Amino acid sequence: MKPLTEVHEIAQIAYGFIGSKALFASLNNGLFECLADQSKSLSEISAETNHPENLIETLAIACVSLGLLEFDGSTYKNAPATRRYLLRSSKAFFGDYYRFQIDRQVYPNLAGLDRALGGDEVAGLYTGGFSDLSRAVDFTRGQHAGSLGPAFVLARSVDLSGVETLLDVGGGSGAFCIMLCKRFPQLKATIADFPNVLEVARYFVEESDLADRIDFISAKDGFNGWPEQADAVLMSYLCSAIGRSATKDFVSHSFDTLSPNGRLFIHDFMVDDDHQGPSMAACWSLAMTMGNPDSTVIRPAMIEALLEEIGFTDIRIKPLIAGITSLVEACRP
Ligand SMILES: C[S@@+](CC[C@H](N)C(=O)[O-])C[C@H]1O[C@@H](n2cnc3c(N)ncnc32)[C@H](O)[C@@H]1O
Repeated sequence: MKPLTEVHEIAQIAYGFIGSKALFASLNNGLFECLADQSKSLSEISAETNHPENLIETLAIACVSLGLLEFDGSTYKNAPATRRYLLRSSKAFFGDYYRFQIDRQVYPNLAGLDRALGGDEVAGLYTGGFSDLSRAVDFTRGQHAGSLGPAFVLARSVDLSGVETLLDVGGGSGAFCIMLCKRFPQLKATIADFPNVLEVARYFVEESDLADRIDFISAKDGFNGWPEQADAVLMSYLCSAIGRSATKDFVSHSFDTLSPNGRLFIHDFMVDDDHQGPSMAACWSLAMTMGNPDSTVIRPAMIEALLEEIGFTDIRIKPLIAGITSLVEACRP
């Protein structure tokens, strides 16, 4: 990242959160959906979304300025990326990730960041093991929308053709198990997560017709219930959330659970060893400090050292989602 020299560059960071909220409000208020089929005038948008003209116009102009909408002087229409990623009818839609997880949970949670950075126990995303059902449902429904894309990419980046059993620790909605089972027809998977999260996972697994190949373990009892052996273990977006000491416990326990030549996969936000970024991975790592004073920013050298200490070999690390996540693969000899 080039060091900033101009005050307007600082302003972009300082006020960026207003743009985030414009995006979430447009999703919540149906602005993009209202323009799904055709461009519309302000009065048509106002009538359809049931919002006063002066207010919806302010939101629409903010969206034009951010590149989410286009305006031709009399009508508004969705920008190409809005059509592709933010309309429910699109196969690539992931607006629910922003609505249910980022807007409702991550965004308000960040209000406690100053205190969290001082090491205070501030309620984080996973505090209380998702004992509140509606929080668990919102989070997991949002995560499903956000994880299907990365899961699709991961399923094409790994070869699980010889693997019969996979344990997905902190498997959430099952997005990764679903994509991997679709790609590798011999594979059977188990999702370990908190009970209220598993309720949502069951729904998505059944919807995908994979109930006979994916089962569930309640994580509320720690490692109790883990299978005696698995050919592969996956942890996606888990280590960044649970912190250093829990990561060590989970990785050690995975080592003991893996069959000889079994493989561990860790998919997470990862910052380069030179500490330069990427910025989205670095900012996500910062967000994960909420609720977990033991959290840390993950770097390849750090994860490699941990895996070697536990006994893993053949450690390979490569970017998965450019600028955000990396995938670690390691073998239990
Ligand atoms: C960001 S979500 C990722 C879900 C899924 N792995 C994915 O990539 O879509 C993290 C998940 O880890 C689960 N989790 C957090 N702490 C856990 C723990 N101690 N044991 C099991 N699951 C945990 C959360 O409930 C949540 O579903």
